[in-house]
Amino acid sequence: MKIKAALPLALCLALCACALGSASAASPSEPVLIVGFSQVGAESDWRAANTKSMQDTFTEDNGYKLIFHDAQQKQENQINVVRGFVQQEVDYIVLAPVTESGWATVLQEAEDADIPVILVDRMIDVLDYSLFTCWVGSDFRKESDIAVEWMRENLGTDLKIVHLQGTIGSSAQIGRTEGLEAGLLENPSWKLVSQQTGEFTEAKGQEIVEALLESGEDINVVFAENDNMAFGAIAAIEAAGKTAGVGGDIAVISFDATSAGLQLTLERKINFNVECNPLHGPRVDAIIKNLEGGMKPEKLTYVSEQAFDATTLTQAMLDDRLY
Ligand code: AHR
Repeated sequence: MKIKAALPLALCLALCACALGSASAASPSEPVLIVGFSQVGAESDWRAANTKSMQDTFTEDNGYKLIFHDAQQKQENQINVVRGFVQQEVDYIVLAPVTESGWATVLQEAEDADIPVILVDRMIDVLDYSLFTCWVGSDFRKESDIAVEWMRENLGTDLKIVHLQGTIGSSAQIGRTEGLEAGLLENPSWKLVSQQTGEFTEAKGQEIVEALLESGEDINVVFAENDNMAFGAIAAIEAAGKTAGVGGDIAVISFDATSAGLQLTLERKINFNVECNPLHGPRVDAIIKNLEGGMKPEKLTYVSEQAFDATTLTQAMLDDRLY
């Protein structure tokens, strides 16, 4: 067991050492801030846009050396890599936590080493907020409440819902699930046919909806907690000879409003898509610049987001989207 746990850490430290080695080649007149970023994974289009935003921002031209790590949706990988960042004495740790719980110990190590920790995207569940410098991300519960209100106004009663959840224990899953579950309590004619995690991936979303349709389940709504699971659901619905979206057999509700997600919304295969904004790179850059200037950032910052109804979405609205 011990050997198993030590290997990823050793690998991480070796990788970090390489990255730091090249950073030290920068001219001494140009201070370089070392930022260690622990990313959740590469599970979705949203995540790819988020990674790109961070990598485009934390460049050497902008005064940074970025040490990027993809945790492949595993919290133990994130804990190991954050511990590695502490041992390497990076200037800032940026963490997009896969799930909310289990962070106190490693964040205490970062605090003891005086390394600021900036949380992005998802939140953590700790009693002591001094364990992180600040957080910037989405109000996932609000996103879900907006979707549920739209369903109430536009889909009405007698809904037979398949709920595709994201990674269990992640803020995005917790907030979006709470919103739908509150909607189910308030609308007794809505029936929850199935509630399963698709881990935010297209493949799992497709697998779940395929199995339900094959077993003859009567469903008329898929509530997918992200675009990629909605893509999988639509593929399964169409493969079963049914139609998805506006005026179809099964309505599809989605979150993220990525380019591909909005394209399917424009094609009316997704009825309603609530934005989750992934462009956190410039936001974290601004936080770091403020900290470097001796200013104290807001503890919690919610980004503003919009929602898109397929019946009012136009190509022009898609043209100026950045992700
Ligand atoms: O935490 C944000 C969520 O994570 C996005 O909705 C989802 O697509 C991603 O994987």
